[in-house]
Amino acid sequence: MTEEMVPKQFAISLVCLALAGAFDNHFWRLVVLYVHHQLWILLVPTSGVVGLILQVVAMVGIMWIPMFANFNYRKRQGCIMVTGCDSGMGQATVVHFAQTNDDSKKGSFEKIFAACYNAQASKEYFEKTLTKDQLRHVLVVPLDVTDDKSCKDAAKTVQSWITNETSSKGLYGIVQYHGVPFFGPACYMPVEMYERQLQVNFLGFVRIVQNFMPIMKKRSMTPGRIIFTGTGGGPCSPCPPLLSAYMSSKFAAESFVHSLRAECYMTRNEISCVVINPGFVKPTMLVEKGIELTDKMWKICEDKQGSTVAKDEYGELANHFTKYSSLQPGTHVSEVTKAAEHALLSNVPRTSYKVGIDSKLAPFVGMMPTGMREKIAIHGIYGILSPAGTVKGYRV
Ligand SMILES: *[C@@H]1O[C@H](CO)[C@@H](O)[C@H](O)[C@H]1NC(C)=O
Repeated sequence: MTEEMVPKQFAISLVCLALAGAFDNHFWRLVVLYVHHQLWILLVPTSGVVGLILQVVAMVGIMWIPMFANFNYRKRQGCIMVTGCDSGMGQATVVHFAQTNDDSKKGSFEKIFAACYNAQASKEYFEKTLTKDQLRHVLVVPLDVTDDKSCKDAAKTVQSWITNETSSKGLYGIVQYHGVPFFGPACYMPVEMYERQLQVNFLGFVRIVQNFMPIMKKRSMTPGRIIFTGTGGGPCSPCPPLLSAYMSSKFAAESFVHSLRAECYMTRNEISCVVINPGFVKPTMLVEKGIELTDKMWKICEDKQGSTVAKDEYGELANHFTKYSSLQPGTHVSEVTKAAEHALLSNVPRTSYKVGIDSKLAPFVGMMPTGMREKIAIHGIYGILSPAGTVKGYRV
């Protein structure tokens, strides 16, 4: 290998890694890296510009084959439902679709069912934010995903709207953003909080699928889409300290989706199940209400344990996390909306969307040896890789 080839190889490796990021699947990443390596050995003897171009064409060609199908969006048809519309990603998605609904190229959704925990407040928000014309497409539906009856009632409302509207093309897609971010030390946070966390973030998905999939199956047209919100890079992501409840709920949810997808395939149910994996997104409730939620958690711990032991041991760590949340730049919530749009409208949706650089890098960290992976998770928030600096009084 000559000396001037080293920068070339470096550049090609970077391109390869960047392209590999387009895939959500680690197997494919490895395949891409392997193919790259082989191509490098094979093609470099044709040195000079030709060799370089050949390599790039070969790599890009391989990468783009599965993406060719996606240059055109489908025309919008039927209705969609968005859950968790009280704030953050859900709210932004409803506003985005309502505002772009009459795009002549993309068609329009008959109705956007905005499922909200606090329907009144959300109604007021949408009335304030959207024009009358845009508002015509939005119907706020009260929904508590932890409550069976509430889910059944919401499904009834959606079904009744579709039945009333005789020309309706049915329920095409569901985008689910509902979720709560609990945060606290694993050995003190009360089990009730774990239960609540799993009720919303995990069983909420189960209830939505069981209540709404039958409505989607009634469509005779293009197969529908169900979109779930995971976290970070998915189940292989490192789990940072103090997020045991939240990460458990997200991993549980993702396992549910993987099994569901296999079941849909085997029963020729053409509904696509997609996971959006956002990294740190701003602005969201987690960041805005971080301190409030943490104080509440300490209070619950204190009531349960009869002492402030949890806060004494972990208080500074939690404060550091809050500081990290406010300093970390995060990914703007509109990036999540874009992923949701692609998942709903592209001809072939991906099985998962990693939104944000942190989310894209997480699977690489996830492939590292366990000790190293955990060190990086710690240092990312509490140590040398953290925008908040190194936490004092704890081992990092
Ligand atoms: C459908 O029509 C029935 C009867 O007119 C009405 O009671 C119901 O509210 C309608 N559903 C929706 C969601 O508008």
